[in-house]
Amino acid sequence: MTSRKYRTKDLAVPRFLHVVLFTIFVVVFFIVGHSIRNKKIDDIAVDDLVSRDTFDSIGNFSYSQFSRYKSKLPTQNDLSVMLDRRNQLPPINMDLYPKLVEGHIVIVLYVHNRPQYLRVVVDSLSQVEGISETLLIVSHDGYFDEMNKIVQSIRFCQVKQIFAPFSPHLFSNSFPGVSPSDCKDQDDPAEKHCQGTKDQYGHHRSPKIVSLKHHWWWMMNTVWDGLKETNHHSGHILFIEEDHFIFPNAYRNLQVLAKLKPVKCPDCYALNIAPSNVKSRGEGWESLVAERMGNVGYAFNRTVWRKIHHKANEFCSFDEYNWDITMWATVYPSFGAPVYTLRGSRSSAVHFGKCGLHEGHDDNAVCVVDGLVNIDTEDVDKAMNINSNWGVHKLDHQDGYKAGFKGWGGWGDIRDRKLCLEFAKMYGY
Ligand SMILES: *[C@@H]1O[C@H](CO)[C@@H](O)[C@H](O)[C@H]1NC(C)=O
Ligand SMILES: *[C@@H]1O[C@H](CO)[C@@H](O)[C@H](O)[C@H]1NC(C)=O
Repeated sequence: MTSRKYRTKDLAVPRFLHVVLFTIFVVVFFIVGHSIRNKKIDDIAVDDLVSRDTFDSIGNFSYSQFSRYKSKLPTQNDLSVMLDRRNQLPPINMDLYPKLVEGHIVIVLYVHNRPQYLRVVVDSLSQVEGISETLLIVSHDGYFDEMNKIVQSIRFCQVKQIFAPFSPHLFSNSFPGVSPSDCKDQDDPAEKHCQGTKDQYGHHRSPKIVSLKHHWWWMMNTVWDGLKETNHHSGHILFIEEDHFIFPNAYRNLQVLAKLKPVKCPDCYALNIAPSNVKSRGEGWESLVAERMGNVGYAFNRTVWRKIHHKANEFCSFDEYNWDITMWATVYPSFGAPVYTLRGSRSSAVHFGKCGLHEGHDDNAVCVVDGLVNIDTEDVDKAMNINSNWGVHKLDHQDGYKAGFKGWGGWGDIRDRKLCLEFAKMYGY
């Protein structure tokens, strides 16, 4: 995720360094983002998004059809309404793959706006054994033509696109975007007569930064409880991002892990196709590994989703703009027992970045330049490489964010917290 650039796992780095990096980042992105955003929205002919005919057959979309609550979601602009309707369209490629295979694991890919990365991810998915058996959902934060074209060109499985209709990127002069009455930086609302609540470090909200956590939460709620394609799905759903390279054996490995989980690791809540340490490619042991939840290629079922959804208050009110740190520091600890995930000991997915920009200029870093990624897919990554007779090696006392961490801030505004809670209620749960 873009905002991770200034995030570090090393909590010993002096606090002020984060604040300085954070500020530089916010300023740069604000300036760059502002010009891009305004252009993008104006450029879109809203009628192009879905033809009139399709609209009439879909009918009018309204959140109240799902919910007994009177929705307190923000007022939608035309683009937002159109995208909501477009989200109701059936998957593409139903002609090529009319039936999903029994026991399939749905894959959700969530993306923002890095087309060069998305191309790499989509190419890697096209090589995944078994991919044609399942449904790929691509969840977009914002509407970007180039991203859209890449997704529309996929032919290797059923594909459903959804667009977060309340993404800050869709609103150029009102909440969840920036509205003219918003406080900026460290403004005092009483003195400046502006709107906003500061975070724990004294900063007002930045739409670019809150968009990631909003998107993740909207997507989770929508995929599990909103979409007719998945709201009755009984198995696992796998979640990946636009900067995750997926190996050909990922899907078959995941299917095996899903079968083994109840037997081999009854304490495990989830499955992972990569280690929680994103720099590791796995241990290569002849055993399964149970460890803390990772954020690259994780999968869980509806039972676990209901537990997470039940913690909406914790998730939405914690002053931390990263969804994953929010989960590690508040949601998982609130389950009462350690939350383990089960994986193989060799990675089936890797997180990549832009070459030369990695922290510490790690020569082994996986990175992309001119649309090519420096990953060799070895034979052992091509076919399922998990042995059902293996035992489980449990990793305990691992480093990382946990209960007690107070958050990096960026999520102090009451309006963001309320919107987040609305997402949890919009489908009537
Ligand atoms: C959708 O709403 C518009 C305006 O509110 C209305 O004119 C139209 O008949 C509605 N269409 C359907 C299919 O309900
Ligand atoms: C979902 O996963 C959890 C955690 O592994 C497990 O306890 C539960 O039985 C599973 N639910 C279903 C319906 O399989």
